[in-house]
Amino acid sequence: MKISVIKSALENLRSDLLVLPFSSTELKDEGEKRLLEIGLEPQVLKDFKAEAGEVVVLYPSGAKLEVSRVALLGLGEGKALEEWFKGAVAISSKAVEMKMDTIAVDCSGIEALALATGQSVETLAATFVEGCYCGSYRFDRLKSGKLDKKSASKKFKGITELQLRVDSSVVEETEKGVSAGKIVGSCQKNARDLVNLPGNYLQAEDIATAAEESGKKYGYEVTVFHKKEIESLGMGGLLAVNKGSFHPPTFTVLDYKPKGKAKAVIALVGKGVTFDSGGISIKPSEGMGEMKSDMAGAASVLGAVEAAARLGLPLRVIGLVPATDNMPSSKAQTPGDVITTYSGITVEVGNTDAEGRLILADALTYAKEKYKPDAIIDLATLTGACIVALGYSVAALFSNNDKLAEEIFQAAQHSGEKVWRMPLWELYDEQIKSDVADVHNTGGRGAGSITAAKFLEKFIDGHKNWAHIDIAGPAFPPKGAGKSGGGTGFGVRLLVELLKKWS
Ligand code: BES
Ligand code: MN
Ligand code: ZN
Repeated sequence: MKISVIKSALENLRSDLLVLPFSSTELKDEGEKRLLEIGLEPQVLKDFKAEAGEVVVLYPSGAKLEVSRVALLGLGEGKALEEWFKGAVAISSKAVEMKMDTIAVDCSGIEALALATGQSVETLAATFVEGCYCGSYRFDRLKSGKLDKKSASKKFKGITELQLRVDSSVVEETEKGVSAGKIVGSCQKNARDLVNLPGNYLQAEDIATAAEESGKKYGYEVTVFHKKEIESLGMGGLLAVNKGSFHPPTFTVLDYKPKGKAKAVIALVGKGVTFDSGGISIKPSEGMGEMKSDMAGAASVLGAVEAAARLGLPLRVIGLVPATDNMPSSKAQTPGDVITTYSGITVEVGNTDAEGRLILADALTYAKEKYKPDAIIDLATLTGACIVALGYSVAALFSNNDKLAEEIFQAAQHSGEKVWRMPLWELYDEQIKSDVADVHNTGGRGAGSITAAKFLEKFIDGHKNWAHIDIAGPAFPPKGAGKSGGGTGFGVRLLVELLKKWS
């Protein structure tokens, strides 16, 4: 998607669709006047209310415009960044639906909106671009088009050009925002692709390759540990989960170092289970296919490290990604097994479907021991219980540090990728005690997300600044309720926002 910032008058814009964004107050105060100015019938204002994400398409008949289609885009009250993002998602999604190649957006009001939202023009521009990447995203790379004879010849390739029309005083700031937005938008898009790719297209080795390719392209170091090295390291958690698999595991370390002195060292750990059948504690078959998304944490970590590198943030950002699938077989680990993790801590595996915490355990200890990071944050589609508690739009946040928790909460509010904090009280330890090993990998019926987090906490070796984000719900929400379904890349925008705050 080519994105340009232009100053031409509305009347001279050429594109398939001209977008006019309105907040509800703008609409009340000057809606009619603005529509009349460019020769549009104000009758539409009977129906258009400028709710955030509301889109109405009009077909101008006068000769005042070069375009043949105009869309009114609602921004709600126009006071929150989230409404602006929602607007961008809605209009880009609509444009793809209508098979529009080029769209022009009248952002003449961007300075006023910056004032009203308390954000900079640069942030607004970046957010709009990120929203457009998000709304125009379609996962269609596995569609051959072979059965679609009619449209095969002129296959729609998505929005090829986006023009943002602004006043000349803010061109530079808008351009800055556009470049940053393109980086974050494309990193999130890549994460979504990885999440949506099924198990037969994406194995542990493929996650490692994706990281290596990104590292080569954007100049950061990527080291891949293969099965032999994982064995020498003694990563018993990752090896146990991989036991039933035909495909070898990988442990990938992405290491972005800034040019000057790093302001901080941040470790990001992502769960990379390429397919979670449950193993011997096999899952019910209904909906099992969704477990191709069980590497969403890994995908978001890859996206965040790449974004940090491309934005040139002054932080050292290390991504750590343990990856494998979780399969039943005669070689698979079995319930009741006791394994020894990288830390030396022994685990009774009561349920082989609680596999995420086993591979994360090794990665967390390794991150702490090897890099002594200022902060460790892990992202994982860890528990179904998290969906029961918070649904498909919100992730659960756990942290042993109130300041870190607050910073993540604020970054989440800003990015719109929401989190809600849950407790790590000691009383929950009772549930994961084992008679035969140091700890048990499941905690019984109640508080499933919390006991999973309590389990992870044992493996950070006393690190004082750790957070765990359970993204089981928002990483792969079902279709419906305003959601298009499938991988969202949840966490990329949140993590980038957090890293920027620390920069
Ligand atoms: N990957 C799943 C969690 C999950 C479930 C993510 C649904 C997204 C949607 C995880 O490995 C798992 O199976 N967790 C078990 C833990 C239980 C056995 C203690 C669960 O949540 O049922
Ligand atoms: Mn599982
Ligand atoms: Zn899992």
